[in-house]
Amino acid sequence: MIQDALSKLPSGEPEFPSSPSELPDRVFQGYQRLIYREAGIYLAPTKKALLVGRLSRRLRELGGPSFGTYLRQVEEDAEERLRLLDAICTHETRFFREARHFEFLEQEVLPRWRAQGHPGSGARRVRAWSAGCSTGEEAFSLAMVLRLHLPAEEGWQIEIVATDLSTRILDRARQMLWPVERAQEIPTRYLKAFMLRGTGSQEGWMKAGPELRPLVRFQRLNLNDERYPTLGRFDLLFCRNVFIYFDAASKGRALDRLVDHLSPRGFLFVGHAESLGGLTQRVRLVQSTIYAPGLAG
Ligand SMILES: C[S@@+](CC[C@H](N)C(=O)[O-])C[C@H]1O[C@@H](n2cnc3c(N)ncnc32)[C@H](O)[C@@H]1O
Repeated sequence: MIQDALSKLPSGEPEFPSSPSELPDRVFQGYQRLIYREAGIYLAPTKKALLVGRLSRRLRELGGPSFGTYLRQVEEDAEERLRLLDAICTHETRFFREARHFEFLEQEVLPRWRAQGHPGSGARRVRAWSAGCSTGEEAFSLAMVLRLHLPAEEGWQIEIVATDLSTRILDRARQMLWPVERAQEIPTRYLKAFMLRGTGSQEGWMKAGPELRPLVRFQRLNLNDERYPTLGRFDLLFCRNVFIYFDAASKGRALDRLVDHLSPRGFLFVGHAESLGGLTQRVRLVQSTIYAPGLAG
């Protein structure tokens, strides 16, 4: 279908649109379909400038093929398709983003679990999933909060699975290193307890300390892929600021599979601008952007 659309391209397609308006609609629609099919991300027509802006650098690196030629290439080349998706996605993140979510854990959830000693599937075991983890700040914020409030000396086991669509971003996340300025985002008690200042070749970097590193496992996972491997049940499921560019249909489908992974005592956290209203009946609102399994009211 895309080939078809491209064969009808008006002659004289500019080799490299310098402004979004020069990108033919048919080519834009080809990208729109491919990105939606692959990642569930819906690029509204108003996102033409975003597409041009984010792909221009890659096209320059490749010697300046036209947007139409590059579209044909990504249709055939899975590796290059990953690069395209990586360029399109927003990876912005920070430690303790939306502090309210972590306060909810510190004040309401973890003291209760600790007292009960049996939060999820196994005694003294907590599983968390950071779905759409970007460079790992969310997963490591969770690791710090869980480790401090559920101490290893009391026998608590913590497992955090951190997944993302982008292989490039996961390579960065696996290093568990962040520019040292990012330390400002971390409350002092956690920073002192768990993070290390890099030295030598890691001067200027902050790294996750030895207590945290084994808690987090990174894995590539496309939330739009209906056949992604099941990861088991999670007590905490963070999927924040990932569905921003999904449309209602792709968001609803992805969400339904996410909810399958929620343990009966679990909580699902979404981004501050994301509401699940009308998308699923299988979770109930506990507080703004925090959900638990159960029938929506
Ligand atoms: C804006 S970041 C959010 C990071 C973190 N959750 C937070 O709230 O700070 C969104 C991440 O979702 C990932 N993403 C986008 N579409 C995805 C999909 N279909 N499957 C998995 N991850 C996806 C992107 O690669 C990006 O790293």
